[in-house]
Amino acid sequence: MILKVAKTTNINGTIRISGSKNSSLALICASLLSKEEVVLNNVPDIEDIKKIIEILRSIGSNIKYENNTLTIQNRKISYKVNSELVRQIRGSSYLIGALLARCKKVEISEPGGCNFCDRPIDLHLYAANLLGYVVKNTSPLIIKKGNVTSNTIIFPKKSVGATINTIFMASNIDGITTIINPSLEPEVLDVCKLLKKMSIEISIEENKILINGVKKLTKIISYPIVHEVIPDRIEAGSYLLLASSFPNSKIEIQNVNSSHLTNVLILLKSLGAKIIKTPDSIKLESPQTLKNTNLIISEYPYFPTDLQQILSSTLLFSQSKSVIEDRVFPKRLSHLNELKKLGAKIYLENEQIIIEPSILSSSIVEAKDLRCAMALVIAAAHAEGVTLIEKGEYLLRGYENPLSKMKRLGVNVDIIY
Ligand code: UD1
Repeated sequence: MILKVAKTTNINGTIRISGSKNSSLALICASLLSKEEVVLNNVPDIEDIKKIIEILRSIGSNIKYENNTLTIQNRKISYKVNSELVRQIRGSSYLIGALLARCKKVEISEPGGCNFCDRPIDLHLYAANLLGYVVKNTSPLIIKKGNVTSNTIIFPKKSVGATINTIFMASNIDGITTIINPSLEPEVLDVCKLLKKMSIEISIEENKILINGVKKLTKIISYPIVHEVIPDRIEAGSYLLLASSFPNSKIEIQNVNSSHLTNVLILLKSLGAKIIKTPDSIKLESPQTLKNTNLIISEYPYFPTDLQQILSSTLLFSQSKSVIEDRVFPKRLSHLNELKKLGAKIYLENEQIIIEPSILSSSIVEAKDLRCAMALVIAAAHAEGVTLIEKGEYLLRGYENPLSKMKRLGVNVDIIY
């Protein structure tokens, strides 16, 4: 898909934020822990969700997906995941923990993902080992039951995926498993909320998650499980950054949880934006001239790595030089060369991204991954002339109706084909 983006002058309007992509991917896999019907509301209609649905269907799930509601029934499930799609989405890594909880074994090709850099799963396997699973690190990856028992898992570094997989694995091991140094992203807490509805006891303490597992999990559940997916904080942040990059924008984003965006909003205010919060919406007014920043990106509650590339584009339009250091994915840099094609003064120095005020002009660029695609749309909307963005379909992996939402805000964007 090629996107055509023409110079845009004014950003104004109201949009509704969809359900969280990353939560939904994990929640859909969490449904595998139960044989009962699981109903998930507010699931975004995006490519990554369609892929995980297809993967689940390939192992036996019965799934209905209508109007952002997913109804999943997992009566008979295969532990062997052969689908080629596993390599295409990072969320498929959640099948490791979910299938171990459900079937006590799993056979799966190495999960892939948005290919912005290496995505290891060593911490997932480390936790599986400590819980008594035997890992055969072959292709496909094979994990089987050994002397399975609850344990204390100390993660040397925070990982969203490894935390969620460990919670899944611990959910049906008798006794208390403690995760020390877990990720506590809102998406992790959303998964815990669903699992609690499945009767698993989970408590969260400072830098710790305790899971009181139940061995016969699938037998004790006897009620329909309904869950509302949290709003997508990364989608919300993307549109707030888009609006901030233009002078005097006025936008409102609805269906958001501003407490999930605390550090994003603090940054936007420090750049000069005016923010008004209501319980489920955020209004933003951008300044005439954006200020610069010096920002370290780290695990939640810090500014999220998933917005790093998009923030890079926004800061091209601030008054002076900015510096960003992404400590979660320091090699998430696919946007740099593409932005340079538009004339951006952006470069890497000692693992820090340096961004200087730039005047952009149109070119042909290529989206390299999901967030790179959004970063390019923002930059292209500032460039003189008409920019073509190849592989624009990356946007559809993680944003629901991105073109209609951007158009509603005033971005001159269209699909060529
Ligand atoms: C999830 C999100 C992704 C987000 C990331 C960090 C999904 C589907 N994806 O990815 O959008 O950018 O959290 O918020 O929810 N690491 C290891 N070994 C491992 C696992 C991770 O070294 O086994 C490292 C990673 O390379 C990275 C850091 O840990 O440097 C954090 O990665 P992690 O939180 O695991 O990211 P994902 O769960 O893959």
